[in-house]
Amino acid sequence: MTPSAYSAPVMDSRSTFKEGIFLGKVLFCTGGGSGICKGMTEAIMRHGANAAIIGRNLDRLTQASKELAEKTGKICIPLQADVRQPQTLRDAVRKAIEKFGRIDFVICGAAGNFMSPIAALSENAFRTVIEIDTLGTYNTVKATISHVREAKGAYIHVSATLHYRGTPYQIHVSAAKAGVDAISNVIAVEEGPHGVRSNVLAPGFTSGTEGMRVMTGKKTNKAEGFSNPLGRFTEIQDVANAAVYLFSPAACYLTGQVIPIDGGAEHLRGDFFPYPSSVINPSSVETLLKAKI
Ligand SMILES: NC(=O)c1ccc[n+]([C@@H]2O[C@H](COP(=O)([O-])OP(=O)(O)OC[C@H]3O[C@@H](n4cnc5c(N)ncnc54)[C@H](OP(=O)(O)O)[C@@H]3O)[C@@H](O)[C@H]2O)c1
Repeated sequence: MTPSAYSAPVMDSRSTFKEGIFLGKVLFCTGGGSGICKGMTEAIMRHGANAAIIGRNLDRLTQASKELAEKTGKICIPLQADVRQPQTLRDAVRKAIEKFGRIDFVICGAAGNFMSPIAALSENAFRTVIEIDTLGTYNTVKATISHVREAKGAYIHVSATLHYRGTPYQIHVSAAKAGVDAISNVIAVEEGPHGVRSNVLAPGFTSGTEGMRVMTGKKTNKAEGFSNPLGRFTEIQDVANAAVYLFSPAACYLTGQVIPIDGGAEHLRGDFFPYPSSVINPSSVETLLKAKI
């Protein structure tokens, strides 16, 4: 990050929102065992909700659940499921209902990512990312919608900003997240009259995450030449704060929106990859590419 005259503070949502706003509510979060979605789950729990976190790696989920319960004093259960397999999600929903009796909020956050030029990206690799991000989102919605309707609850889908333009080496994720945004818009329109809201949060480069490691080669990173209007990378807390707002009654008239949490980076014309040298000669950025040409 280029030194900036101003760097936005990183705020705890409890400095703005009351602690008990989600008392009695239940969150179902895919991808909640790590990174951004774990941070969002923690914030929602800190305001009173219980939660179920969903992923494939049960050990990691179990560890994360313990940590989240200890930090917040609320109940968190780990539920193993693969979002590509609808039956495993239906089983997870059944277990969440057995435990809590309701699902108010759903975060569709499970995703996969890696960097690859089209020339080296197999059809299978492209399909896998679509299956996790886009179909996984649809499968999660299908498995949860009747409960969210009953609770007059809300969805947050975790997308990205890559597909607003043509980000090189991200054709798979760009296509997948465009689909996620579209799914959210249709839910907003079709389910709004049933009292369900649906919005998208689109994080920018987020410090200390797996996504950041994939995009930059490092986990907590200073990317040369990259800057944004608010002077720092996205922090997990920034996305979590937006989630607290979107699930809160204060956002009861807000649906069908896509909200970038990127400090305004999307409005800058700076290029993350040197252009066009990085496209003409992928070896100039080969440390970032998973698949080689
Ligand atoms: N980090 C960033 O800079 C950034 C920027 C823009 C958007 N995002 C988005 O933010 C979200 C979180 O990203 P992150 O960087 O925090 O990554 P992360 O820690 O790798 O989180 C991804 C989660 O998805 C779960 N997952 C992956 N495949 C799954 C499957 N088939 N079924 C069930 N769960 C699955 C993983 O758990 P298991 O491995 O246990 O299944 C993991 O907990 C993603 O939607 C990502 O696209 C991130």
